[in-house]
Amino acid sequence: MVDAPSFIEDAVEEIEAEVGDANAVIALSGGVDSSVAAALAYRAIGDRLTPVYVDTGLMRKGETDQIRETFSYMDSLRVVEAQDRFLDALSGITDPEEKRHAIGERFIREFEREAVSADADYLVQGTIYPDRIESEGNIKSHHNVGGLPEVVDFEGLVEPVRELYKDEVRDVARELGLEEIISERMPFPGPGLAIRVVGEVTREKVEIAREACHIVEEETAEHDPWQAFAAVVGKGTGVKGDNRVHGWIVSVRSVESRDGMTARAQELPWETLQRIQSRITGENENVARVVYDVTHKPPATIEYE
Ligand code: XMP
Repeated sequence: MVDAPSFIEDAVEEIEAEVGDANAVIALSGGVDSSVAAALAYRAIGDRLTPVYVDTGLMRKGETDQIRETFSYMDSLRVVEAQDRFLDALSGITDPEEKRHAIGERFIREFEREAVSADADYLVQGTIYPDRIESEGNIKSHHNVGGLPEVVDFEGLVEPVRELYKDEVRDVARELGLEEIISERMPFPGPGLAIRVVGEVTREKVEIAREACHIVEEETAEHDPWQAFAAVVGKGTGVKGDNRVHGWIVSVRSVESRDGMTARAQELPWETLQRIQSRITGENENVARVVYDVTHKPPATIEYE
């Protein structure tokens, strides 16, 4: 395990030495890795670091407010309101890979503009050790900012947590005093709720997925899943009041895993599942049905697209 206090001291010194008097920029995602990288870099170079948080509209419930609060001590923090631009970019797209691509492209354009206006020479990234292994093995590009170093002509790339595993990053986050909601946060995919909405991404489906994910996170917390969320997977009939409705089908997923490479569907108590079902259908009149996904990975993936 990492010795968090001395790791922090060394990392701050290294960033100071690497960046010198120049400016740097980092994309905050709301997750623990980029939050820790940003906090370390800010300790090293202060407001010469511009942390950029792009609100894609595909984030978890309350995530943007949480970012504003957690990083309010950084005067240079920029929050980019890009929700409409992301929805426009996704309009009409149903293919999962095309969705990912459209989001990646849009993200790069948003971030590039901020990096140029911040006159940044360095890019700070929250890449952790397992990300590097997976990228080198070409298993999956794990970063929605993966193309950035090539797009903006940065002088250098700074990756302060590149040698750490996830649980070590969490230790450093606690030592840095980041709130529990960040240090203990479960993994969330770069493309966000877009891959928890099967087919075309619309405002309505995203809102349903966001609320349902929040409910699932709350209700499963005591069972400590590795990841738990909900996805909007299609439409089906239901009865609401006296009316037959054609409403959304929400699939609930809760998995146990060590690293996300394989996973087991969690055996949740029936009462928990029923509570989730009744909250999701009760809080949204357009949801007709809630199902529980019992598929392991493999053969399924954890996310839906
Ligand atoms: P899958 O769905 O491939 O997911 O079984 C494995 C783990 O990776 C996360 N995931 C992503 N993370 N960018 C990310 O940063 C992505 O494009 C992405 N796709 C999936 C997923 O949430 C799970 O933890």
